[in-house]
Amino acid sequence: MNSVAPDVLTDMVDYYRARAAEYDEWWYRQGRYDHGSEENGRWFAEAEEAYAAFDALHFTGDVLELAPGTGIWTERLLKTAETITAVDASEEMVAINRVKIGSDRVSYLIADLFTWQPDRQYDGICFGFWISHIPTERLDGFLAMIADALRPGGKVFFVDGRREPRTTAKNHVLPEEGVQVMTRILNDGRAYQIVKNFYDPGALAAQCARAGLDVTVRETATCFLYGAGTRR
Ligand SMILES: C[S@@+](CC[C@H](N)C(=O)[O-])C[C@H]1O[C@@H](n2cnc3c(N)ncnc32)[C@H](O)[C@@H]1O
Repeated sequence: MNSVAPDVLTDMVDYYRARAAEYDEWWYRQGRYDHGSEENGRWFAEAEEAYAAFDALHFTGDVLELAPGTGIWTERLLKTAETITAVDASEEMVAINRVKIGSDRVSYLIADLFTWQPDRQYDGICFGFWISHIPTERLDGFLAMIADALRPGGKVFFVDGRREPRTTAKNHVLPEEGVQVMTRILNDGRAYQIVKNFYDPGALAAQCARAGLDVTVRETATCFLYGAGTRR
């Protein structure tokens, strides 16, 4: 698999900054993400499965949320966590998250996760729909960063998409096996290059284990992959 050129990572930030206002259409299956009531129903039912796995982990204490976006998972996290440190490269995403969540228990940092390093340990770390955007050649380094930033016994949760065309917009084409870059299009037609990887649950769990993270990785029937576990 070819490694990802640095300009793709820059383009990916530009894409999410420009997409912030229309981002939630994806999660709520609206506009180009509306694949009809049957497919949408499947999506929402499987999202409930991921939510249930997240809730079962029961994050408490000080939690780090990476790439929080508009706050779909921040909102859920705040039900049990004491504080959240939310790190995202997009000011536009963070502005929406801040208004939606409206809590002084959440601290926001605008930073590039490919260079940012945590300066403390947390009781938990959560990242929704972020692991697929990490180039494969950077994944070991990312998982090592997660393990370092978790106290022993600290909790980790992630969720992401499976390789299923109906999970994305009707005018998006998923990358072929062995390719980690795809084109994403906004409602106004602007196009960007982003990283999008799909993981085998067993291989990903093994990679987490090598980093010191005991994570159970599961897939829902069609749409999602999620991991829940702890730092050894
Ligand atoms: C697919 S969204 C996930 C948002 C949210 N976690 C969710 O599940 O809805 C990806 C997020 O990653 C952020 N992002 C993209 N590149 C980044 C980078 N280099 N550093 C930090 N955040 C980045 C985007 O701004 C966006 O908020």
